[in-house]
Amino acid sequence: MILVTGATGKVGGQAVSQLLDAGVAVRALTRDPASATLTLPEGAEVVRGDLADPATLDDALDGVESVFLVWPTLSADRAAPATIEAIAGRASRIVYVSARGVPDPVPGAPEQDPHSILGSHALVERLIERSGLEWTFLRPDGFAANTLVWASQIRETGTVRWIHGAASRALIHEGDIAAAGVSVLTGTGHAGARYVLSGPETLTQVEQVTVIGEAVGRPVRWEELSPEVALRGLLDQGWPPAAAEEMIDAYGQMVTSPEPATSTVEELTGRPATPFRRWAADHAGDFL
Ligand SMILES: NC(=O)c1ccc[n+]([C@@H]2O[C@H](COP(=O)([O-])OP(=O)(O)OC[C@H]3O[C@@H](n4cnc5c(N)ncnc54)[C@H](OP(=O)(O)O)[C@@H]3O)[C@@H](O)[C@H]2O)c1
Repeated sequence: MILVTGATGKVGGQAVSQLLDAGVAVRALTRDPASATLTLPEGAEVVRGDLADPATLDDALDGVESVFLVWPTLSADRAAPATIEAIAGRASRIVYVSARGVPDPVPGAPEQDPHSILGSHALVERLIERSGLEWTFLRPDGFAANTLVWASQIRETGTVRWIHGAASRALIHEGDIAAAGVSVLTGTGHAGARYVLSGPETLTQVEQVTVIGEAVGRPVRWEELSPEVALRGLLDQGWPPAAAEEMIDAYGQMVTSPEPATSTVEELTGRPATPFRRWAADHAGDFL
């Protein structure tokens, strides 16, 4: 039995479907089983639990051998030590969806700010490393689905207003992250591995917007926004200041140091990672 957390989300949802397709027994964790049951595939056992409240995880962890752990960053910090301990007390193996850019542990290196996105993932990684669980970390690049944040702008104005159009990254299809996880969970030889996962090619944000325009059948323009205006916008949306500044800085760094594509998805799954063009074609309706 494999417990999948974040099962109603993008990566976890794909993991549930793909594990079921592979013939594996799956338990899907959610804080709201009533609505999750409507969306999760038949065959998954749906169980209520809140990762931020380890006392609620007893039923979810009963008889579980492995955990596919998706845990939205920044909600993790306070409960993380007790939650990882609870998992380690019941399961033997964990695959954690972390993030590209989380540094490997270096003795004596200063701890990262746990209120930042990467710091929050680093905190969970360190706890897992010390837990006694057999672990594998998946460190994905930016999700292709992040571009859905532009959907309303594209629908309403045909223009994307955001920072650093020249920032390049190798966006990854969420299904490829899940597929890598399924390979790890159904295979052997992945203990202690930290896999950096990405899409097959690096595209600038301007190129991503062009690809979306081609997918929806009408041109989409790019309008450069200043980092200051973008930061104010994120703070107005309620982003914690450390995370908002980290996000703005990260895009600036991707202009001068583009994130290179890795071949890890293909190495783990035996098929190439999904191009962004394919993802955009599949999601064209979401931008119309
Ligand atoms: N976006 C990126 O570019 C990127 C890149 C690298 C890594 N990541 C990491 O990927 C993760 C997000 O994955 P995603 O996009 O698939 O998630 P998502 O679609 O945003 O879904 C979030 C999921 O987490 C569950 N959840 C939230 N809080 C929970 C809690 N306290 N206890 C139990 N479940 C909880 C929700 O389930 P219920 O509401 O049903 O309980 C939901 O299924 C984050 O850790 C993020 O840092 C993202």
